[in-house]
Amino acid sequence: MTINIKKCTLEDLCILQEISYETFNETFKHQNSPENMNAYLEKAFNLKQLEKELCNISSEFFFVYFNNEIAGYLKVNTNDAQSEEMGNESLEIERIYIKNKFQKHGLGKYLLNKAMEIAMERNKKKIWLGVWEKNENAIGFYKKIGFVQTGAHSFYMGDEEQMDFIMTKTLI
Ligand SMILES: CC(C)(COP(=O)(O)OP(=O)(O)OC[C@H]1O[C@@H](n2cnc3c(N)ncnc32)[C@H](O)[C@@H]1OP(=O)(O)O)[C@@H](O)C(=O)NCCC(=O)NCCS
Repeated sequence: MTINIKKCTLEDLCILQEISYETFNETFKHQNSPENMNAYLEKAFNLKQLEKELCNISSEFFFVYFNNEIAGYLKVNTNDAQSEEMGNESLEIERIYIKNKFQKHGLGKYLLNKAMEIAMERNKKKIWLGVWEKNENAIGFYKKIGFVQTGAHSFYMGDEEQMDFIMTKTLI
């Protein structure tokens, strides 16, 4: 069993779009209408939008591979790229997605450790993220890793306003 990680470049744009669509669908389609899912997918993962995010120097994407097969991805933001004004001492995990068939093999933790490593290298004091209040699996995972709820914010899935918990882990 081998696990590898690779930082994404613009050359990975189409693969990034593919895995973003696939993992978002797998995770949320059962609890959301097709209209709202499609509206979100179109808005968040169109090639122009992803290209812009890949070119932002304060955002980084990583692919994780399990036995050389792409299994998931991570997106972290610092500074102004963060989706809330958390300041320069914070790092946001905006996306952390493992394909269904690769879950529970330690890959989520592997990506989370990568985010922690980046945060510590850059002297950040905390890592934070937003997670849908109904995403019990991810909330369980974050709690296991040591995140605690520190707030909440709105998130729009198409035209539906949803509640995201903000969860934070302080770095020592
Ligand atoms: C949430 C997610 C990233 C977790 O990744 P994963 O690869 O399945 O989790 P791991 O195998 O790395 O688990 C790491 C540890 O957390 C524990 N864990 C995992 N899921 C858990 C859960 N739902 N509840 C409690 N503990 C959990 C594991 O048992 C493991 O513990 P250990 O270190 O003692 O062995 C993954 O399930 C996923 O991508 N889900 C769909 C997308 C998603 O919801 N992303 C988050 C959006 S905010």
